[in-house]
Amino acid sequence: MTEGLATVAYIGATVLFILSLGGLSNPETARRGNLLGIVGMTIAVLATVFGPRVTPAGYAWIVGAMAVGAPIGLYAAKTVKMTQMPELVAAMHSLVGLAACLVGFASYVDTSTVFPTPAEKTIHEVEVYIGILIGAVTFSGSVIAFGKLSGRIGGKPLLLPARHWLNLAGLLIVIGFGREFLNAHDMGVGLTALLVMTVIALLFGVHMVMAIGGADMPVVVSMLNSYSGWAAAATGFMLSNDLLIVVGALVGSSGAILSYIMCRAMNRNFISVIAGGFGTGGGTTASAGGEQPAGEVQPISALETAELLREAKGVIIVPGYGMAVAQAQHTVCEITKLLRDKGVAVRFGIHPVAGRMPGHMNVLLAEAKVPYDIVLEMDEINEDFPDTDVAMVIGANDIVNPAAQEDPASPIAGMPVLEVWKARTSVVMKRSMASGYAGIDNPLFYKDNNRMLFGDAKKMLDEVLAALKG
Ligand code: TAP
Repeated sequence: MTEGLATVAYIGATVLFILSLGGLSNPETARRGNLLGIVGMTIAVLATVFGPRVTPAGYAWIVGAMAVGAPIGLYAAKTVKMTQMPELVAAMHSLVGLAACLVGFASYVDTSTVFPTPAEKTIHEVEVYIGILIGAVTFSGSVIAFGKLSGRIGGKPLLLPARHWLNLAGLLIVIGFGREFLNAHDMGVGLTALLVMTVIALLFGVHMVMAIGGADMPVVVSMLNSYSGWAAAATGFMLSNDLLIVVGALVGSSGAILSYIMCRAMNRNFISVIAGGFGTGGGTTASAGGEQPAGEVQPISALETAELLREAKGVIIVPGYGMAVAQAQHTVCEITKLLRDKGVAVRFGIHPVAGRMPGHMNVLLAEAKVPYDIVLEMDEINEDFPDTDVAMVIGANDIVNPAAQEDPASPIAGMPVLEVWKARTSVVMKRSMASGYAGIDNPLFYKDNNRMLFGDAKKMLDEVLAALKG
């Protein structure tokens, strides 16, 4: 393939990636967006493999790498559970970071490239230095994020004394060695500077993510997603590959926007997320379920829940992480269909950070074929709770916690929540009185108009469905 044809293919792939991102922003067009992304990536891989830069000897390496990588990717995609998605994403980001580091070192020790001017050589070295820096932070940060999300490393933030000073010292050393690297006339000196910087960047990545507490972890994953994009863009600069630069910038900026949206949905400030320490400040400890119950709860049976639903005119279902764990979405869909057939207006209220990843609930409901037009965002439905007969909360906790509005000392104070307690009756479906992700008690459970349906969401909903049919 000629250089010109490869460039055309790269431009085509770039357009497809942009269209893909556009498609993914709406559940109705997400499938098409995904397909466009697949086509774009296929074109990009083919144009690279058969492009002018690959020598015949390179094919053996490419085929070998694909023979190892493709089955691993296929296996991971087939076996990963929806609830394990964030940790899989973190693991994938670590690979992007590692690749950026390896490409950086390879590109530095490769003496075959001739730079026409000293300025171009310096620019290339800056690209190498920054590429490895971002890559190393992404790699070690993502490995720790994977460990935390999969429960292999404790979720509590590790707060070293003077940690911000440690980070600042690390930054100054990195800048100092950067100067040394750019002034090095000898490859040995340059490599030493690169290696020292890489070790510091790796330690920084570990330190940064270790300091971040449980409830902030999904934001960190999205931030690492953004870093991995910038690492890929830096790799593109090192390899003079326009497609990698554009795609890296797309991933980098969309990851940054997503982190911002998530921070806003949790009423967290981006800087304070990065600074770490969620759940340890302000004297309010986000201890996992360690708080005293704030009153009596009123249990309800599946039969009584079915009765409430049957008699309701309007129902709003609020799904959360527990629905994903129980895989209850198909039963939810069946109940919805049955109630709608009986003339009950059923709608869904989706909190932007319900579950464990952006769009988690939308994906599950779409999989169960719940019609898109009755699935509404929090801002679209929050005002309707006072006119609703039953708000049914399925395995959600933090996103329906009135403490966010009523208790200024709460760790989630100010976080926007779905106001289910304003409905005539709310039914919360969960297995126990355990707390949610933020580790705090929920005053909703003790409200007069709230009922608790204890049990696994799938099992309970099956019983509700059977009662509705009967
Ligand atoms: P959570 O607050 O984590 O509550 C989920 C509840 O589901 C738990 O209280 C649990 O109670 C229940 N549950 C678990 N398994 C269940 C099962 N098999 N059947 C029935 N119930 C079950 O979830 P949420 O309300 O969706 O809130 C999401 C949390 O994640 C928030 O704190 C949010 O800030 C955080 N977060 C999410 C994101 C994204 S992007 N989604 C990003 C950042 C942070 P039991 O153990 O008693 O059953």
